[in-house]
Amino acid sequence: RRVLFVTTEIADFIKAGGLGDVSAALPRALKPTYDVRVLMPGYRQLLTAGRPIVHVASLPARHDLPACEIGRLLCEDGLIVYVVLCPELYDRVGNAYGDELGVGWADNDIRFARLAMAAAEIVNDASLLEWQVELLHLNDWATGLTAGYVRWLGKRYVPSVYTIHNLAYQGLFPVERLAALGIPSTAFHIDGVEFHGQLSFMKAGLSYASHVTTVSSNYADEITSAPLGCGLEGLLKKRALEGRLSGLLNGIDDHWDPRTDPHLAPNFGINDWHGKRANTQRVRRMFGLAPSSGPLFAVVSRLVAQKGLDLTIQVADAIVQAGGQLVVIGRGEYVIEQALIAMAALYPGHVGVNIGFDEGEARQIYAGSDFLLMPSRFEPCGLSQLYAQRFGSLPIAHRTGGLADTIQDGINGLLFDDMSLETYRATVLRAFDLFRATDLFYAMRRASMAGRLHWRQAVIPYRRLYADLLTEAIVRSD
Ligand code: ADP
Ligand code: GLC
Repeated sequence: RRVLFVTTEIADFIKAGGLGDVSAALPRALKPTYDVRVLMPGYRQLLTAGRPIVHVASLPARHDLPACEIGRLLCEDGLIVYVVLCPELYDRVGNAYGDELGVGWADNDIRFARLAMAAAEIVNDASLLEWQVELLHLNDWATGLTAGYVRWLGKRYVPSVYTIHNLAYQGLFPVERLAALGIPSTAFHIDGVEFHGQLSFMKAGLSYASHVTTVSSNYADEITSAPLGCGLEGLLKKRALEGRLSGLLNGIDDHWDPRTDPHLAPNFGINDWHGKRANTQRVRRMFGLAPSSGPLFAVVSRLVAQKGLDLTIQVADAIVQAGGQLVVIGRGEYVIEQALIAMAALYPGHVGVNIGFDEGEARQIYAGSDFLLMPSRFEPCGLSQLYAQRFGSLPIAHRTGGLADTIQDGINGLLFDDMSLETYRATVLRAFDLFRATDLFYAMRRASMAGRLHWRQAVIPYRRLYADLLTEAIVRSD
């Protein structure tokens, strides 16, 4: 069965956060049951990756969406990635959504509508790729319009899954943009793409997809009410009651394994605490920290309000006073970056901050740290805590979203209930007690490293969902 997986990131080439990891892992995990192929924008990072891109189709301009080509790129392991080639939109210096400074591109409506329209055109015209799409899988706001275009171009019913990785990013644009994007004005209503007088790409996905999923069952529940429903709780509640909203927990794949990860020196497995400690020393050197026998705390994060960095900055003092150290790798909002740099300057030799995005360093930090700090205000799933667990670093996290679903307090991490500095600080201090209670600490480390959240299991409910939707589509077409 043929599935087109539409995304704006894939860890093989370009990644801003967890969506990149999921887009690399889930299509692969679905094989061989499904012939899943990826569709994404032809960013510079793909064009310059050194893999041949074969031209397979041309699409005309529509409304203000420029003409584009579809290219076909083959990953090393055979995964097919269709690339929307439109240099004026995607061949730029920066990341998927904005420039080098993280400022969103002014034409993101056109950029992602072009992607969505390309997907809809592929769905509607089976001869275009000589590969007839039987199911569409969309991811986050930037792909949401696809479900709308498929309906508005209206040739045939193709079931679609729309996965919310983060409801807080909605893709809101002025209503005046409808015509330019080829959205019929009749769709601008409360059961369509309208959200408080604006055009919402997120809502297009929620309104028109056959089924909505999100990345943990706890978050699926949380978004059906305020505040985490972000104003869409009514619609999401309705989807839930219709049986059209489910929470399917992410997994992790074989690339995340401290026994084989090429970025680590040395590699280590469960019980090889000597090997783990060598990684800790390496991280201390990387960040210019003083030698220490205390615990090493870490943050690996996008620097946005969601992630609660403000609280971590406020517990730094308690960490250092109690004999611990802290390292941070992150990139994002300028104000948070500056606040972190200022924090590091207060504790030379004990707190280190790297403002940047570096896959290898992130992995070294998971491997070298004893605890990962993740006081997220909300967290749809969270992958950082899963990677930390796999690499023997116990997450300390707010009991919310996927963090609550993947961390068992006192077993494979520590959780705190309310988002207050006092509770967070108390939990961080609990970590010091734990670190001293060596037997218990190592037992927890073993439990976290042995976690079984693999994509091999995580993919099963997706397979079931696809099968149900495909069966339903047959019934509909009879
Ligand atoms: P989100 O998608 O909200 O950013 P997740 O925890 O799901 O949160 O995924 C974050 C992903 O991005 C993980 O793979 C994590 O290792 C990675 N990551 C975050 N910040 C950095 C960074 N500064 N450098 C390298 N990788 C990072
Ligand atoms: C989003 C969420 C994160 C989730 C990731 C992958 O970026 O913020 O919690 O793990 O998507 O689904």
